[in-house]
Amino acid sequence: MSKGCSAVRLIIVAASLLSHVLCLNIILNNDDGFTSVHIRELYRALNAAGHNAWIAAPAYDQSGRGGTLSFTSKANLTSASDADVIPKGAASYGHDPSDPKIWYYDGTPVTCTLFALDYLAPTHMGIAAPDLVITGPNFGTNPGPFMYTMSGTMGAAYSAIGRGVPALALSADSYGPGRNFKGLVAHTQSGWPDPATIIANLSTTLVNQLAAGSKPLLPPGYGLTVNYPKVTSLKDTGCLYPPFIRTRLTGGAPIQKAIFDPKTGLFRGADTIPATGVGVNTCNVGNCTLPGETNVVNNGQCQTSVSVFVVDYDAPDNPATQGVDSRLGNLVTGENEARNYSAASVGAPPEQPAVSAAASTTPPAVKSGAGTNLPQHLRVLAAVGSVLGVLH
Ligand SMILES: *[C@@H]1O[C@H](CO)[C@@H](O)[C@H](O)[C@H]1NC(C)=O
Ligand SMILES: *[C@@H]1O[C@H](CO)[C@@H](O)[C@H](O)[C@H]1NC(C)=O
Ligand SMILES: *[C@@H]1O[C@H](CO)[C@@H](O)[C@H](O)[C@H]1NC(C)=O
Ligand SMILES: *[C@@H]1O[C@H](CO)[C@@H](O)[C@H](O)[C@H]1NC(C)=O
Repeated sequence: MSKGCSAVRLIIVAASLLSHVLCLNIILNNDDGFTSVHIRELYRALNAAGHNAWIAAPAYDQSGRGGTLSFTSKANLTSASDADVIPKGAASYGHDPSDPKIWYYDGTPVTCTLFALDYLAPTHMGIAAPDLVITGPNFGTNPGPFMYTMSGTMGAAYSAIGRGVPALALSADSYGPGRNFKGLVAHTQSGWPDPATIIANLSTTLVNQLAAGSKPLLPPGYGLTVNYPKVTSLKDTGCLYPPFIRTRLTGGAPIQKAIFDPKTGLFRGADTIPATGVGVNTCNVGNCTLPGETNVVNNGQCQTSVSVFVVDYDAPDNPATQGVDSRLGNLVTGENEARNYSAASVGAPPEQPAVSAAASTTPPAVKSGAGTNLPQHLRVLAAVGSVLGVLH
């Protein structure tokens, strides 16, 4: 029997007036692990709003793993999971004993996304694919193109998009280190909900907004990355419900540099922010009049950045890129031209090049056929390659 949205929705229609909410089949993932207070609060809020949300997330904190794939070779956990929810020695994947919709896998966030799409969805959720993958909310922000590649929260999202599933990556500035669900407070000293509850509420509002349109929720290849500022409800009322601001990834974005410490003899990484138009702060493709998400989330004005991104890495073909084509010159040609050139060169191989005496006295042993229809400059490269092959 399907446990997807239709079944869930029937129950909701019968039981309440929540049926105006379009039910989405959602898989939650993150890089802080399946017990993070953020992922658990979002799971609770989404299901309470009438969605069919499941969790498939790492058994252990896997922050900073980016796009790393790691299918475990061990059938059993070698230590207890985060928050001691799953004991040492238990299977390397499974569900929380208290909830059959909360799953863990002993691997990176990307691996958990694949586990979710290829195992959990068809086998336990009873659906071909979820409507949406949501990753996070991460403990700590992930602004800009460099964090995009490095963050496990982002990796879990862009791997879902790569598989054709829309994804939403959520990251949140926060006080101190990550907390698991056991640390959730119903009300803070200042009388407000836990920051994780507030961020889950805001995130569910955003999901409901997406759900109000037709499916798919986003165009192919598209995702959203959201960075929340520090929600201060644990300590004060300085920033409670930060509004959503439309942003772009580039603009004030950090990347890392290596710093040598002569005392330890070791290198460490530190943030550096390239100037506008340099490196990660080059804006080629998007709407460059939008504010950079890094600046918005850090502006101290209690605002949340929302950037649209796309996993289409192809550089745009426009006047600005013609300099690249002319730099590549005749070496890299259009497909038709290349075919014609290759066909022509088979019939009439160019003459031997005027290379150095040393090279010309040791003619390379190019096998008959291989390389003989290459353009002249590639034959030279092949010859050099053969010589190096002898030496290596
Ligand atoms: C290891 O995991 C397998 C399933 O993956 C399970 O059958 C087995 O009982 C586990 N071993 C222990 C010692 O729990
Ligand atoms: C968010 O919280 C507000 C205030 O408690 C509530 O009215 C609203 O229904 C919540 N929204 C969602 C999507 O949970
Ligand atoms: C770019 O963003 C600005 C600021 O939000 C907006 O006014 C403008 O319409 C956008 N341009 C395009 C082409 O989307
Ligand atoms: C390649 O050769 C074909 C057949 O001779 C010709 O029609 C075509 O125009 C040529 N393409 C280029 C780019 O020269």
